[in-house]
Amino acid sequence: MPPVHPGALLADAAARWGTPLYVTDLDAAAARLHGYADAFPGALIAYAVKANPDPQLLRRLVAEGAGVEVVTAVELALARRAGCPPERLVMNGVGKRDEEIRLALEAGALVNAESLHELGVLLRTAAGHDAPRIGLRLNPALDAETHPHLATGAGGSKFGIPLAQLPQALRLVREAGIGLESVGAHVGSALESAEPYAALAERLAEAAAIASAAGLPPARIDLGGGLLVADDAALDALADAVRSHLPDAARLILEPGRSVVADAGWLLTRVVRVQPRPAEGLAYLVADAGMTELIRPMLYGATHPVSLVVPGARLEVDGGGEVHLAGPICEAGDILVRCLERSLTAEELAGAGPGAVLAIGRAGAYGAAMASVYNGRLRPAEVVLEAGEARLSRRRETLDDLLSRDA
Ligand SMILES: Cc1ncc(COP(=O)(O)O)c(C=O)c1O
Repeated sequence: MPPVHPGALLADAAARWGTPLYVTDLDAAAARLHGYADAFPGALIAYAVKANPDPQLLRRLVAEGAGVEVVTAVELALARRAGCPPERLVMNGVGKRDEEIRLALEAGALVNAESLHELGVLLRTAAGHDAPRIGLRLNPALDAETHPHLATGAGGSKFGIPLAQLPQALRLVREAGIGLESVGAHVGSALESAEPYAALAERLAEAAAIASAAGLPPARIDLGGGLLVADDAALDALADAVRSHLPDAARLILEPGRSVVADAGWLLTRVVRVQPRPAEGLAYLVADAGMTELIRPMLYGATHPVSLVVPGARLEVDGGGEVHLAGPICEAGDILVRCLERSLTAEELAGAGPGAVLAIGRAGAYGAAMASVYNGRLRPAEVVLEAGEARLSRRRETLDDLLSRDA
């Protein structure tokens, strides 16, 4: 089922702040967070800020009890700025610079090493700290069913310490005389089923047992993120998949990103032009948003629901056929939604000519977060909805913002 969107608020937001525009419903995101907290009582739910670092979203989630999972010093700074207390900060990242490791330890974050080399740096840096919080991000060697670019837990991916190297990693930690707070892994992203989490939980329970036997019992087990959606049924299935191997929910860390915010966000875009291709039996609606504002369709072949928010000119397309929603970017692959006739009724499609405002759904995650300025595109404004009111969270980027970097 495509997410329901508050149409009138979106139409008002488009009129007030222009398009393209990101809109995020903070109440919907907070409800997803609470869904996780209810399914895993006492667990640390560390929102993966990479999914959507909107400052007001982050502040709201932290105020509702979320921790924050970060992968860079900048994300760490954003999390702290949003008020996240040290005990709720978790840092991952396969290429953390030494300086970033130092900053994260100083901030009191749990820092997960992703390779033996990085573990060496982490342990040396930790030696100067009072109570360093160290974890191991393992590579669980699980081929979850998802796009290859999202299969971060596969054995051949660049992420995490291979399970075969766990004894060596534990030896390094023991020799450093530092405790181990956590073992964890991230099985992959955009997972439609909770099934891979059963195998993940089993492997992490084994890893924790090995660590305990080596004199380093980890207080916490980190299951990463990865669910595509986190409705009640999906969370029940996730909790069931994990429970038999890891019964103590309060010991767990979860790092959901996409499933907290994807359904809570829309990208509003206005149709600028119609590009008919009668010989090919198709037409493009060219909009004012493209791969620079939402790269997921191009990057992962992701599909997004679309709805008509404000009708525009009557659409005249000779001979019917397929109608694709394209962006204005100079890339042939810059197609946001294929076959609009599957998402819109015939009447809606007929009203989707130039001037129409469309809402692209499930755009709350990895939309604004992955926006770029390619082709001289200025990043859109971000608006948040809370208690039925819309307000600006980030203004639209300007030419002066871009020029301000020039030496
Ligand atoms: C270590 C880690 N945790 C959490 C996440 C968030 O994943 P998702 O947005 O799929 O929940 C990712 C995504 O790349 C990740 O690599």
